[in-house]
Amino acid sequence: MPKIIYVDINGARRECNVANGVSVMEGAIQNGIAGILAICGGSCACSTCHTYIDPAWMDRVGPASDIEDSTLELAYDRKPNSRLSCQIEVTDALDGLVVHVAQNDG
Ligand code: FES
Repeated sequence: MPKIIYVDINGARRECNVANGVSVMEGAIQNGIAGILAICGGSCACSTCHTYIDPAWMDRVGPASDIEDSTLELAYDRKPNSRLSCQIEVTDALDGLVVHVAQNDG
């Protein structure tokens, strides 16, 4: 099972086993990662699952789709490495992925 490393807004780092096929957001919810609200439940409509991908992983994770890109416009403090975690599917290729939780609570 791939490991996803979540870093919360206070810098606390948690290494979590997340099943293949679920989203990085669902993995965060299952593991009680603070700051991922996911108000829309993963339908790419709210931006409250906003994360920053560690720069070393940007190529592997890939760019946002057009729909995700427009939802990201709603996110607070969007950066070049911003992604909506509900739109990233966990696979073995992402074993060791480091994601930083963005400010998602207003
Ligand atoms: S959970 Fe709403 S956009 Fe990801």
